[in-house]
Amino acid sequence: MSGSANRIEPDGERKQVTVLFADVKGSMDLAEQQDPEQWREIMQGFFDILAEEVRRFEGTVDKFTGDGIMAVFGAPIAHEDHARRACYAALRMLDDISEYAAELRRKHGLSFSARIGINSGEVVAGAIGEPGDGSYTAIGHTVGLAQRMEALAEPGKAYLTEAAAELARGYLELEDLGEFEIKGASRPVRVFELAGVGAARSRLDLSRERGFSAFVGRREEMATLEEALERARAGEGAAVGIVAEPGVGKSRLCHELAARCRAEGIEVFEAQAQAHGRGIPFMPVLQMLRAYFGIADADQERIVREKIAGRALLLDPELADDLPLLFDFLGVPDPDRPVPRLSAEARQRALRGVVCKLVQAPSRRDPAALVVEDLHWVDDGSEALLGELLDAVEGTMTLVVVNFRPEYEPSWTGPPDYHEIELAPLRQADTRELVGDLAGEDPSLDGLAEELHERTAGNPFFIEEIVRELVEAGHLEGERGAYRLVRPIEEIGVPSSVQAVLAARIDRLGAEAKRLLQAASVAGKEVSEGTLLPISGLDEGAFEAALRETIAARFLYEAELFPERLLAFTHPLTREVAYQSQLSTQRRATHAATARATIELNPDRHDELSALIADHMEKGGETLEAARWSAHAAYWAGHHQPRDALRLWRRTMELAGALEEGAEKDALGLSARIRQLDYAWRLGMDPAEEARLKAEAEELAERSGDLRSLALLRALGTGRPGVERDAGEWIAGADEVQRLAEQSGDRDLLIALRAAGSYAFLCAGELERFSRIADDVIELAGDDRRAGGGIIIGCPLAWALMCKGIYHRERGELEEAARWFNRGLRTATEEGDPETACWTRGNVASILALRGEVEAAVSLARRNRELADRLGDVFTRSLSLGQLATVELAAESFEAALDAVEEAERLYREAMHSGGEVGSWRAALRAEALLGLGRAAEALEVAEWAADDARRHGILWPLPRALKALARARAASGAAGAEAAIAEAAEVAERTGARGVLREMEEERGALAAARS
Ligand SMILES: Nc1ncnc2c1ncn2[C@@H]1O[C@H](COP(=O)(O)OP(=O)(O)O)[C@@H](O)[C@H]1O
Ligand SMILES: [Mg+2]
Repeated sequence: MSGSANRIEPDGERKQVTVLFADVKGSMDLAEQQDPEQWREIMQGFFDILAEEVRRFEGTVDKFTGDGIMAVFGAPIAHEDHARRACYAALRMLDDISEYAAELRRKHGLSFSARIGINSGEVVAGAIGEPGDGSYTAIGHTVGLAQRMEALAEPGKAYLTEAAAELARGYLELEDLGEFEIKGASRPVRVFELAGVGAARSRLDLSRERGFSAFVGRREEMATLEEALERARAGEGAAVGIVAEPGVGKSRLCHELAARCRAEGIEVFEAQAQAHGRGIPFMPVLQMLRAYFGIADADQERIVREKIAGRALLLDPELADDLPLLFDFLGVPDPDRPVPRLSAEARQRALRGVVCKLVQAPSRRDPAALVVEDLHWVDDGSEALLGELLDAVEGTMTLVVVNFRPEYEPSWTGPPDYHEIELAPLRQADTRELVGDLAGEDPSLDGLAEELHERTAGNPFFIEEIVRELVEAGHLEGERGAYRLVRPIEEIGVPSSVQAVLAARIDRLGAEAKRLLQAASVAGKEVSEGTLLPISGLDEGAFEAALRETIAARFLYEAELFPERLLAFTHPLTREVAYQSQLSTQRRATHAATARATIELNPDRHDELSALIADHMEKGGETLEAARWSAHAAYWAGHHQPRDALRLWRRTMELAGALEEGAEKDALGLSARIRQLDYAWRLGMDPAEEARLKAEAEELAERSGDLRSLALLRALGTGRPGVERDAGEWIAGADEVQRLAEQSGDRDLLIALRAAGSYAFLCAGELERFSRIADDVIELAGDDRRAGGGIIIGCPLAWALMCKGIYHRERGELEEAARWFNRGLRTATEEGDPETACWTRGNVASILALRGEVEAAVSLARRNRELADRLGDVFTRSLSLGQLATVELAAESFEAALDAVEEAERLYREAMHSGGEVGSWRAALRAEALLGLGRAAEALEVAEWAADDARRHGILWPLPRALKALARARAASGAAGAEAAIAEAAEVAERTGARGVLREMEEERGALAAARS
C-alpha cells in the first residue's frame, strides 16, 4: 500500500451515528431535459436546501454525491439524539423540496422529486485522503445500508432501517413496510417509512407510553419539593433546581410532583428545552405560554387570539396593550393590530416584561407550578427570560421547578430562596424494587438486581433499557413484572440508547481528557496514576489537566490516594463506551503499553499480575509475550488453583499456536500440553481431548529429541491414576517410567517420577516396592526438600513421607505410621504443597480412627474435606470425601458416611468418565455404610461388585476391605459364603503384607462364629 494516495489517518474513532442519504430521483433523465447551466442552478438550489437542514440539526454534510448528499449526525461531535435529528432534518427536507419542486414545475415544467435513506449504527469516523489534506468522513457498513435505503425509497419519501427506527420510535411517526432483501446485507432488513413527528417529546414521554415503572425512593427529594410548594401556596413564591446526569430521574421526579399538584387542583405548566432546539429560539418559552393559555395545535388563529386575550385580560386589564406582542410571538398576529416596529432586542425585553406581569398579576389567587426541563439545552433568549421570571416569583403563589445536567452553568441566580437538589442515582434497595417491578421476583432472577445495580451504578434509565434489551435478546421470557431468566447472561451489552447518551457525554470532554479516558478504559476498571500517565501518551502537564477534567466531569474518581493515586471509573458503562469508541489499532497499542507499564512499575508483583499482563499483551497483539506471561501465570496458579492453572495452560497453548515457527513456539506448546495432561487426572478431561494433547505433545517432544518430556509424558499417560485398567499393565507402565527417569540423568525428574509412579505399586498391593521407592525418594532428596517439586507432585519428599506412613499403617504399625504422616504433613505445609497436605491429613484422620480417637478423626476429616473443596481439584475432593466416609464409619455415623461416599463417587464419575482405580474402595465403604443402616440386600450387591472389580483389575489394596464388607453382607442377608470371603481376604492380606487388615480379619472371623452359635 505504500505510495498509495489514500491513507487512513490513525486518529479515527468508532462512533455510533445516523447516516442520511438524499438524492434526486432519476437525475440523469432530468438532466438530459435541461440545459447544463440551468441544471446546475437547479441542483445548487437543491443542495442548499439539504445543507441548510443538515446544519439546522447540527449534522455534518459528509459529501456531495453528484445528485445528492450524504450527511452524518453524531460525528464528529456525538449527539445523544442523532437518529431523531436525522429524521427531523429529513422531514423538513421533504417539505422544502416539495415546495421547490412545485416551483420547478411552474418555471421549467420539470417533475423533480427527492428520496431519503436513513440508517443508524457504528462507523469509523476520521480523516481520510492525502496525508495532511484528509477530510473528515464516515466509513462502514452502516453508510452503505443508508444508501440502500435511499435507493429503495419512493420519490418524496424517507425510509429508515430498523436500527434507526429503534432509536427514533415514539419521537417520530413510523410506518412499518416489512422486511426487504437488501444487497450487501446478510439478513433481510425491516424497513420503515418516516411518516411525521410523533407524540413523544422527551424520553419520559416515551416511558409514559410504555407504561411507567413503579416510582421508587426519592422520599427526601419529594419532601423538599412539597415544602417549596407550601411556600408558594403561602404566597411567598419558591424556586427549586434539580441537577443530575441523564437518566437519573429529573424528569420523573418533576412528573411525580406535577401529578401531585394536579391531584390537588393546582395548575401546572410544563416546558422543556430540546437537544436539537438551540437553533430554534424561544421554543421552551413558546411551549410554556401555549400551555398557559391552553392553546391546542388544532386551534384556529382566531380562537388562539381569543384564548390569549381572555386569560390575559382576566388577570390584568393593563395587559391589553401587550396583546399584539403576545399574538405575534405566539404566531397568530392580529391583522387589525400590527405590532409596532421594534428591534429584536427591544422586542425580547418587552416580551420578558409581559411574562413577568403574567406571573405577578395582583389578581392571581390560585397557586401554580411551572416546570422547565433540560436547561442545559436552553437557547439564550429563553434563558434570559427564565432568569427574569425566576426573580419575579418572589411574593407570588408560583412555584418554579427547573432541571438540568451538571454541566449547565446558569446565567441567572434565582430568587433568594432558590436552592438545588442534587439528585443521586438510586440506592441498591431502590434498584431492587425497580427491577422487581420491571422483571419480577422469579427465583431465576436472583442476583440480577445486584448485577444491574453494579453495572448501571443505579441509573434508572440504564436499568430500564438493559432490562428491555434482555427481553429483546431472549434472555428474559414472560411479561412485564413476571419474567423468568431462560438464557444465562454471559454478557450484557450496552443498549444503543444508553450508548448514545454516554458517547455524547464523553464527546464533551476536551481532546486530551478524552484520550486519557480512552486509555484508562483499556487499562481496566481501575488504573494507577503511574500506569495511566505513560499509556495516555500525554506529557505530564497535559496529563494533570486532562485528569482534572475527567474527574471534574465525574467520569473517573480517586478510589485511593495512598500509596499511589488509583483512578476508577464512576460508571462501568462509560468505560465500555470509551473502550468501544477507539479504533482497534489504537486499542491494541494501548493494551501493549499497559502491559509494559505494569511490568515496569511493579517489579515485585510480577507473579500476581502475570495473568493480567498476559491479557494485555494478548489484546495488544504481542502474542509471544502473551504466551510467556500466560505460562508464568499458569505456573503461579499451580496446584493451589488447579482450575485456573488448567485454563491458563490451555490459553498458553493457543497463544503458542499462533506464533511463528521456532524453538520457543515448540517449547511453550510442549510444556503447555504436558501441564494440561498433569491437570487432566486431577480435574478430569474429555478423553478425546486428552488423547489429542498427548499425541501432539509426543510429536513435539520427539521432534526435538526431548527425553525428559517423553518420560514425563509416559508418566502422565500409562502411569497416571484414574484410568480403569489392570494392575499388571499399570505396573509395567510404572516400571518403564522408572527406567526412563533413571536414563534421563535429571535428578529432579527422577525424584518426581519415582514419587508419582509409586502410587501404582500401592494400589496393586505391592507394599514392599511401594515402601522402597519412598525410601529412595527420601534418600535422593536428602536435605533438598524442593527436589523434583512441582513437576507432577508439589513436594515429592512430603509425598514419600506420607507413603511411608501408609506402608506402616497397612502393616498395622500405627505409632510408626502416625510419625511418618506427621512429618509428611509438616513438610507439605512448609513447602507450600496444599495438595499433598490434604492427602496426608486424610490419612492422619484414618490413624486417629484406628486408634479409637473417633471424634478427633471426624473433625479433622471434615476440615480436610473443606480444605480440599477450596483447592478445587476433583481427585483430591473425592479422595478427601472417601477418607471422611472411612472415619464416619468408625464413628458409626452411617448416614453421614453414606452421604460422603456417594458424593465422592458422583464427583469422580462426573469428571473422570470412570470410577478410577479406587472405585472398589469407595464401593466397599458404601457397602459398610449400607450395612450400618440395615440395608443388607443393597450392601450385598455393592460389596459383590467391589470385590469383583478389585479382583478383576488386580487392585489388591482395597480388596480385603471389600471382601470383609462382602462377608458381613452375606452374613447379614443370610447368603452363603461369608467364611469364604473372610478366608479370601485373609489370604490377600497375607500375600500383600497388610498385617493390619489381617488382624481385622481374625476379629471378623470370630464375630461371625459368635453370631452363628
Ligand atoms: N425514582 C424512580 N423510580 C422509578 N423509575 C424512575 C425513577 N426515576 C427515573 N425513573 C425512570 O428512569 C427513566 C429515566 O428517568 P428520567 O426522569 O427521564 O431521567 P432524566 O430526566 O434525569 O434524564 C424514566 O423511564 C423514568 O421513568
Ligand atoms: Mg429528563
